[in-house]
Formats: sequence, C-alpha cells, structure tokens
Amino acid sequence: MHKILWLVALVVSLAFAGTALAGGADIYKAKCVACHGQKGEGVKGLGPAHKGNKFITEGKPEDIKKVILEGRVGAAKKYKEFPLDMPKSGLSDADAEEVVKFMQGDLQK
Ligand code: HEC
Repeated sequence: MHKILWLVALVVSLAFAGTALAGGADIYKAKCVACHGQKGEGVKGLGPAHKGNKFITEGKPEDIKKVILEGRVGAAKKYKEFPLDMPKSGLSDADAEEVVKFMQGDLQK
C-alpha cells in the first residue's frame, strides 16, 4: 500500500515538473529565439519580429499554430526580406498551443 502511494506521488510530481519545463516561454527560448530574437524583436535576415506583429497580436491562435506546426515555405512565404523558410517546429500540438499563448501574452508585454 505504501509503495503504491509513493508511486502515485512520484508520478504526480513528475507530471507537474514536466508541465513547468514545457511552458510556452521555455519552448520559445529553446527553439525560436535564434531566428526571432530573445524578446521576439526579430533577427535581421533570419526571422521577422513577433512582438508588435499583427499576425501574432490580432491573428487567430489556430493560424499561428498552423505556421508553427507546418512551417511556411516556398510560395506561402510572406517576407521577401527573410530568405529563409519558417521551419516546421516538430512540436506537439499541445506544446504549440502553449507557445501561441506565450506569444500572444507575455511576449507582447
Ligand atoms: C531558422 C529560423 C527560424 C526558426 C528557428 C523559427 N522561425 Fe519562425 N519564421 C522564420 C522565418 C524566416 C519566417 C518568415 C516566413 C515568411 O516569409 O512568411 C518565420 C515566420 C514565423 C511566423 C509567422 C509570422 C508572420 O508575421 O507571419 C510565426 C508565427 C513563427 N515564425 C513562429 C515561430 C516559432 C514559435 C518558432 C519556434 C518554435 C519559430 N518560428 C522558429 C524563421 C524561423
């Protein structure tokens, strides 16, 4: 019995640790800042700004998530001044949603 309780406690604490690590801000820092800047201010020649960008601030969360999951390449590209493609992030659906929340929330402050 004690063993089971201990196991439940362990699983619960691991689950919470996992959530904390996979927060939108952390994912953004790990996977997006190289091209989009530490504060989403953009990086010249690499990636457009997200801070103050209407596609982010006024866009639908689904549209933003789609770009994150599928990338934006070739004819779909919007910015001539950024010759790179937006790569597929490889994130899970849930993680992409966390990143969108962060981008529309704290990143804009
Ligand atoms: C290798 C560089 C690179 C990385 C890494 C990268 N992006 Fe991008 N991203 C781009 C480029 C270049 C564009 C512009 C594509 C275009 O011309 O439409 C872009 C566009 C976007 C857009 C659309 C912006 C708009 O104004 O239409 C979103 C949203 C986005 N990126 C989110 C992310 C997120 C979230 C991550 C991290 C998971 C990420 N990007 C990682 C290069 C990158």
